[in-house]
Amino acid sequence: MRLLFFAGSAREGSHNKKLARLGQMIAEANGIEAVFADLADYHMPIYHGDLEDAEGVPERAQAFKALLGEYDGVMIVTPEYNSGIPPLLKNTLDWVSRVGTKPDVFQTRVFAVSGTSPGYYGAMRALLQLRQVLTIGLGATVIPQQMALPNAMKAFAEDGSLVDESQQKRFADVVEALAVAARKFAA
Ligand SMILES: Cc1cc2nc3c(=O)[nH]c(=O)nc-3n(C[C@H](O)[C@H](O)[C@H](O)COP(=O)(O)O)c2cc1C
Repeated sequence: MRLLFFAGSAREGSHNKKLARLGQMIAEANGIEAVFADLADYHMPIYHGDLEDAEGVPERAQAFKALLGEYDGVMIVTPEYNSGIPPLLKNTLDWVSRVGTKPDVFQTRVFAVSGTSPGYYGAMRALLQLRQVLTIGLGATVIPQQMALPNAMKAFAEDGSLVDESQQKRFADVVEALAVAARKFAA
């Protein structure tokens, strides 16, 4: 059973990348094979039907779909932009949904969502939207457990863990719940 973690931000200093990397570290510390992927390595143009007709689906979307297909469980850690999902993440999901190869990668594994923001709600509204896109839009199974981490500027210690022990424990519980669900899903 293997887990993939990625964030809906390509920004170098992204708080959400930090949280995704922390998820990967927690999984590995618990003996689970886990990988962090950076969307900065999968740059894609904004989806445009004419572009798709003329050039097909970008190679990076095909590569990202292939990457997703290698893991039994996927955690998406998203920022919140104007109370919703950032365009980078939606665009990535949209392009991947246009890759025609079988199997469908959304319906054949299990997902978890989490997020963080400098504000009070910790990306909560983006998480609600992301759940809608994944479940209703893409037919994915998304576990109920999630982390909406507020106050991102002060939340992380030097070593990448969360300063607040109860938050660290809660996030570890989300990672564990994803691992449990992914094992069942893969069986
Ligand atoms: C266009 C834009 C809209 C934003 N809207 C929100 C918002 O609705 N809620 C929120 O908590 N933060 C909002 N932010 C602040 C982001 O949470 C903050 O930039 C965060 O650090 C982005 O995630 P990252 O650190 O992973 O790149 C917004 C930022 C941008 C650029």
